[in-house]
Amino acid sequence: CGIIACIGADDAAGDLLTGLENLEYRGYDSAGVAVQNGSGIAVRKRAGQISELDAAVASDTPAGRVGIGHTRWSTHGPPTDENAHPHTSQSGRVAVVHNGIIENYEALRARLREEGYTFRSDTDTEVVPHLVEHYMEEGLDVETAFERTLDDLEGSYAIALLVDGEDVVYAARQDSPLVLGLVDEGTDRQRYYLASDVPAFLEFTDQVVYLEDGDVVTVDGDGYRLTNRHEDGPVTRTPETVEWSAEETGKGEYDHYMRKEIDAQPEALRGTLAGRIDGDDVHLEEFPPGTFEGVEHVHLLACGTSYHAALVAARQLTRAGLPTSAFRASEYYDLQPVDESTLAVAVTQSGETADTLGALRRAREADARTAAVTNVVGSSVSREADDTLYIRAGPEIGVAATKTFTSQVVALTLLTHRIASDSEAGTVREDAAEFLAALEAFPNAVEELLATTDARTVSDDNMGRDAHFFIGRDFEYPVALEGALKFKEITYEHAEGFASGELKHGPLALVTTDTTVYALLTGERGEETLKNAEEAKARGTHVVAIAPEGMDVGGVAGEVLRVPDTHPDLAGLLANVQLQLVSYHTAYGLGRSIDKPRNLAKSVTVE
Ligand code: G6P
Repeated sequence: CGIIACIGADDAAGDLLTGLENLEYRGYDSAGVAVQNGSGIAVRKRAGQISELDAAVASDTPAGRVGIGHTRWSTHGPPTDENAHPHTSQSGRVAVVHNGIIENYEALRARLREEGYTFRSDTDTEVVPHLVEHYMEEGLDVETAFERTLDDLEGSYAIALLVDGEDVVYAARQDSPLVLGLVDEGTDRQRYYLASDVPAFLEFTDQVVYLEDGDVVTVDGDGYRLTNRHEDGPVTRTPETVEWSAEETGKGEYDHYMRKEIDAQPEALRGTLAGRIDGDDVHLEEFPPGTFEGVEHVHLLACGTSYHAALVAARQLTRAGLPTSAFRASEYYDLQPVDESTLAVAVTQSGETADTLGALRRAREADARTAAVTNVVGSSVSREADDTLYIRAGPEIGVAATKTFTSQVVALTLLTHRIASDSEAGTVREDAAEFLAALEAFPNAVEELLATTDARTVSDDNMGRDAHFFIGRDFEYPVALEGALKFKEITYEHAEGFASGELKHGPLALVTTDTTVYALLTGERGEETLKNAEEAKARGTHVVAIAPEGMDVGGVAGEVLRVPDTHPDLAGLLANVQLQLVSYHTAYGLGRSIDKPRNLAKSVTVE
């Protein structure tokens, strides 16, 4: 879910809608706004995409300078008008938007019901406005009533709250992101935004205060006051200038963010690599030489696409002499001995995935050292890990991760080099100079691939097949998994990724003349996968080869997608770009909602 608030805007409803459109990738099954309009709080909310809300606001626009808004990814209750935020108190005097989960909401509901409060939604959030109103009725001022409410809540939250008749937004964060944007401070154009993340208001300002857990902020037209629930008195946080630009977060001339982000991979990779390779050595400002002394083994913790990046890195680290496992974060429970010699690395584009944050906490509690690899400066993971490596890929808006996968793998490759140099257990690869040179040239190889158009033809030819299977071996195995994940996410067609050698141990039963097998033939083990593809071909399936220039795939593959020359350990990443394009064109052909696939959200902040 995403939240937004504005204070001092000329047209609060308009700015809130802009913010919500920018946040839509965090959830898009319902949305709403509440605006302080002089004669009460006007609430508009709708199930469906933001366009539904746009229409509702356009037909009856609430005028006002202060408001809050929300876009939802359902956790408690289906996406209906009633369950959409903002939620209001019994009298309508208090309106609230919330991101996170109130774990004790059933107990709070029961308590409030006994006091005569009735509930209009199935959400956990609705207890918040009722509690605030309840404490206000006991005679407390709004700020104290809000504090008392926060005392009652267990769980995670970013909350923004409006009270009738006050041009003020009250907000708080605990384990859920919240940032404050400052516009033209000290001038008569001064205004403020609060949001779940920076792209929400990037077109208005790049001046940002990252709020910390426990922070409570009161914002009005004159300024803001910040306190922290764990400290006495006011706290100060220095505003920072965000490096991302508003153009980067726009769609530009593209039909979809996903396509824009696929095409942005060379640039994203240049950002990831800039200043980090020097001959046969790697320099990471965040991790100076010696950082990883004493590390004996590594756990990589991640979800979704980031998990596939972690699988690639696990193989690299293990080859460098460091026993490494990649875990799906939601499955990381007491699986391995963890102690001070363990380095736990959270790999997460957004830095906000609750499953990943939970796993990182479990590792830390067991005394592991921690690190994060993420794209988002100031994200929760960067606060929780001992150190953070930023992948510097620029903002990614499409729900299906593309450029951040590629940049994550490259950043993890650099991190592998650092860990292998520092740790006594590790050895830097013998061909370091050659490999790092290939890495530096890698953005150009991606550029060359992006100039080709065969993926479109392959997607046209295979549209409507019963199922799509992706097979690969070694570094190409995670690519097969990622290829299938991307395909199912955005086309809604049946897609599975398999280790190519495993095909004959079961999945081959699924292979028919109406299925397609995409065989990843890049890398050191491409020839072996070609043999497995042949086994599939013998059962009458159609084989699409993703192969290096010059490889003979004649008898097996009905079609081939070529990837430019590069180091064999990097070729799988190029093959992945071809698969991104195949998924994109297929989803396009099928008329899918490419940037916002059904039931998904880019950043899932609940476990
Ligand atoms: C969600 C998204 C996936 C993403 C995963 C992990 O499920 O839909 O595309 O890979 O979260 O996200 P993260 O931000 O932790 O990399």
